[in-house]
Amino acid sequence: MELPPTLAQHIEQSSQQHLLRYWDELDESGRQVLVAELEHIDFALVERLAGATEVAGSVADRVARARAPQNLVTPPTDEESRNEQRRAVQAGQDLLRSGRVGAILVAGGQGTRLGFDRPKGLFPIGPLSNKTLYQLFAEQLVARGRQFGPPIPYFIMTSGATHAETVAFFEEHDFFGLLPENVYFFEQGTLPALELDSGRMLLDQKGRLSLSPDGHGGLVRALARHRLLEEMTLRGIDYLYYHQVDNPSAPHCDPAFLGWHVLRGADISTKVVRKVSPDERMGVVCDVDGAAQIIEYSDLTPEQARTTDASGQPIFWAGNTAMHVFNREFLERLTETNGELPFHIARKAVPYVDDSGQRIVPSQPNARKFEQFIFDALPLARNALVVEVERREEFNPVKNRDGADSPATARQALIDIHRRWLEAAGAVVERDVVVEISPLFALDAEEVAARLPADSRFAEDTHLEPHLGT
Ligand code: UD1
Repeated sequence: MELPPTLAQHIEQSSQQHLLRYWDELDESGRQVLVAELEHIDFALVERLAGATEVAGSVADRVARARAPQNLVTPPTDEESRNEQRRAVQAGQDLLRSGRVGAILVAGGQGTRLGFDRPKGLFPIGPLSNKTLYQLFAEQLVARGRQFGPPIPYFIMTSGATHAETVAFFEEHDFFGLLPENVYFFEQGTLPALELDSGRMLLDQKGRLSLSPDGHGGLVRALARHRLLEEMTLRGIDYLYYHQVDNPSAPHCDPAFLGWHVLRGADISTKVVRKVSPDERMGVVCDVDGAAQIIEYSDLTPEQARTTDASGQPIFWAGNTAMHVFNREFLERLTETNGELPFHIARKAVPYVDDSGQRIVPSQPNARKFEQFIFDALPLARNALVVEVERREEFNPVKNRDGADSPATARQALIDIHRRWLEAAGAVVERDVVVEISPLFALDAEEVAARLPADSRFAEDTHLEPHLGT
C-alpha cells in the first residue's frame, strides 16, 4: 500500500514525518492500520493542541470573580414552591408524552478508580438482583417510556475501550426490553498524546499512534460524525436528557428536571446537589460574570474550594451531578463551536517508540494528553439553568472501590430509597429487611403507592418485580 498523497502532505506540513519512520518495516495490514489512524487525525487541531494552554491557568482568575449559581431552582419548602414543583412535573410529563425526549448516556470511561477493568456499565449493583448499571438504566428507560407512551430513544456513547463489550452485552440480553431500533451505540473520538516541548505526536508501536479518548466533550463531535443530530431531528427529538454511567439512583428522564428546563426556557440545565465537603471530588457549578460554568474539582486548590462570599456563605457549594438536559438545537450550535471548548491537559508518562525503534516506558511525564468536557458548554448557553435536588434521593454514584461513593454506599442508598417509597405507601418493612424495587415495577414513590397491595408487609428480603404487583 502507498501512502495517500494528501495524507503525506498533511504529515509533512505539520512536521510529523517521524510517524512514518518505520513505514518500510510494516507489512500490508500494518500499513493499513497506521493509515486508518492517521486519516482520523485532524492535523490542524493537532497544531492548535500543541499551542493550547492549561485550563487550570485561568482558574485563579475565575475563582476571584465567581458567585454561587444565580439562575437556580431549589427543592420546594412551602406550599407555593410545592405547587411550582408540581407544575414542573406536569410540564415534564407532557414533554415525555409528546415523544420529543431522547436520552444520552456517556459510557466511554472505564472503572479504573473502581478497580473494575471492564466497561463500568457492566458493574453489578442491584442490592438483591445484582443487576448491572446498564440493566438498571435500560429498565428505567423502558419503564419511563411506558409511563408516558412513546419510547425514549437511547444514545449510548462508548469508546474504543468499551464499545464492543457494551454492544455485545446489550445484544446478549435483548437490550433489557428496549427496542433495538431505539438504541444507538456510537463511539467517541480520540486525540493524540503530544510530546512535551516538541509537540510531536507519539508512536505507541511502530505502526500505531498513541491515542486516547477525547473526553465526554467529544460527544458533540461524535454526534456530528455519526449523523445522530440529523437522526434526532428526523425522529422529532428536541430535548436530550444526559447522564453518566455511575449513578443508579438518579431518576432517568426525570419529569421534574425536564419540566423545569422547559418552563424556564433553558438551553442547558444542570442538576446539582450540595457538596458534603469542599474537598469532595465533584465539579462545582458557579457563575462568573453572569454566566454559569463548572470548575472541575481537580482544577481547584483546597483553599479555592473553600472560598466564601461577603456574608460568609460558601460559593462553591453546588456539586455537579453530571445530569443535564440539552436542547437539541443547542447541541447543533455546539457542533459549530466544539473546537472552542477548552482542552483540559494532563501531563502523563506515555510509553512510546523512540527514533531508534525502542519502546520506552517513561517514569516521568513526557507528554500531554487532551480532553474536552461537555460541561464547558455551559457558558456558551443563552440560558443555563441550575436545579438543586435532594442528594440522598438522587446522587449516590459508584466511583471508588471502598469508602464514600463505593458499591456498598450506592447499594445501601438504593435500599434506603426503596424502603422510603414502600413506607410512604403504607407498607411495613421490618428492621434489617433488604428491599429492592425493579424499575419495571415502579419508578417512584407514587407508582409504588399505586401498585402495592394494601397492608403490604415485608418480613424478609424482597426484590419487587412486575409479576409481584397488581
Ligand atoms: C465527573 C465530573 C464531575 C462531577 C462528577 C459527578 C468530569 C470531568 N467530572 O467526575 O464534575 O461532579 O462526575 O459524579 O466529568 N466519559 C466518557 N468518555 C471519556 C471520559 C469520560 O464517556 O472520554 C464518561 C464516563 O464513562 C463517565 C463520565 O464520563 O460516565 C464521567 O467520567 P469520570 O471520569 O468518571 O468523571 P468523575 O471524575 O467521576
